[in-house]
Amino acid sequence: MTTRVALIGAGGHGLWHRRVLQRLWDAGAINVVGLCDRQPVEPHPDAPLDGVPFFTDHGELLSTVWPDVVVVCTPPHTHLPIALDVFAAGADLLLEKPPVMSTAEHERLSSAVASTGRILQIGFQALGSAALAELCVAAPAGDLGVSGAWWRPDSYYRRTPWAGRRSVGGRPVFDGALVNPFAHALMQALVVAGCAGADFRPELLELERYRSREIETDDSTFLRITGAGGRRITVAVTLASKVFIAGEISVGDAVLEYPTDRLRLPGETDFTHVPGRAGLLENLLEHRNDPKVPLLAPLDRTAGFTAVAEAIVAAPEPARIPDGYLEPHPDGGGSVVPGIDELVREVAGTGRLPSEIGVPWSTPPQRVELRRI
Ligand SMILES: NC(=O)c1ccc[n+]([C@@H]2O[C@H](COP(=O)([O-])OP(=O)(O)OC[C@H]3O[C@@H](n4cnc5c(N)ncnc54)[C@H](O)[C@@H]3O)[C@@H](O)[C@H]2O)c1
Repeated sequence: MTTRVALIGAGGHGLWHRRVLQRLWDAGAINVVGLCDRQPVEPHPDAPLDGVPFFTDHGELLSTVWPDVVVVCTPPHTHLPIALDVFAAGADLLLEKPPVMSTAEHERLSSAVASTGRILQIGFQALGSAALAELCVAAPAGDLGVSGAWWRPDSYYRRTPWAGRRSVGGRPVFDGALVNPFAHALMQALVVAGCAGADFRPELLELERYRSREIETDDSTFLRITGAGGRRITVAVTLASKVFIAGEISVGDAVLEYPTDRLRLPGETDFTHVPGRAGLLENLLEHRNDPKVPLLAPLDRTAGFTAVAEAIVAAPEPARIPDGYLEPHPDGGGSVVPGIDELVREVAGTGRLPSEIGVPWSTPPQRVELRRI
């Protein structure tokens, strides 16, 4: 029988999943049996999903249409209870990233996977990248540097109630430059650091967080992670840059531009595009049919990510970059930090944080020792 698939959280980034569902439905690979969102969701011409029943309550969806597989694309603070309900309803799950908000939630979800025997894939779609697999085979030695410089206007933080917030209505929520938009960079770097053998286990974080606008979280994150074996990953990402850097992970002489799958291996002078990204829903469906096909993004692969992300979100409020170091973005809509693109490259390349380079608006790093999950 064709696999019955439902989507919870059909608005926002859920549109991306609606397109995947439409494509797989058109190909006869699945039946789309239900959509759910708390808010009304406009049909999209690329993904009309004609005739699919719509629910405003995920419990009602689960008990009415009994899906085999559910995609959950709701805000991170809602993931755990919805995921547990999905397992209780006997369905397998593709859960958006970041999967959970803490190591305690990770352990709870991990126990639920073990006790129910259900399949859980996490929405880190960059883990399906052929370029990542090629870099992992080469497994260059050395410390890692991660840089990215994007621009998000102030309106980005008004798109949804949890954006840029530490809590909503007294409830903790989960956002920040590295925790959310650059989450794939962190996840990929942790995987690359573990390619050569045992998983990379983060032990020490040295963290500097900054904000260029009136938000509660950071929009620029600088972080040095030291692993159990002494290997280090230095991450420098910002959402307040006029100059765009897509996102680069360097290790030894190799560089992976992770959003575009462009790779330069040791000894090569130019980047090569390595095509191919396995879809996470497709991979989950294959794994259901044949357990010998490994899941690309199982929950246990994300344990290090969650430990690091939890520590970032729990850290003291980010330091505000003073207005004197900002200038308006040429297109309007907010401010940028001139030269921050060069700074992120310098931090990622040298392993030295802004305060260690002497950046005038920097503050001393916070040190966090991580407990083992
Ligand atoms: N994989 C990626 O590249 C990627 C990109 C963007 C967002 N995301 C992730 O997708 C998730 C959703 O992000 P978003 O920016 O679309 O958030 P959002 O706040 O826009 O929420 C998405 C939708 O979920 C609905 N929703 C909220 N609570 C619900 C509930 N309890 N039941 C049913 N529907 C509910 C909202 O009404 C909204 O339409 C997050 O986990 C985010 O990190 C992943």
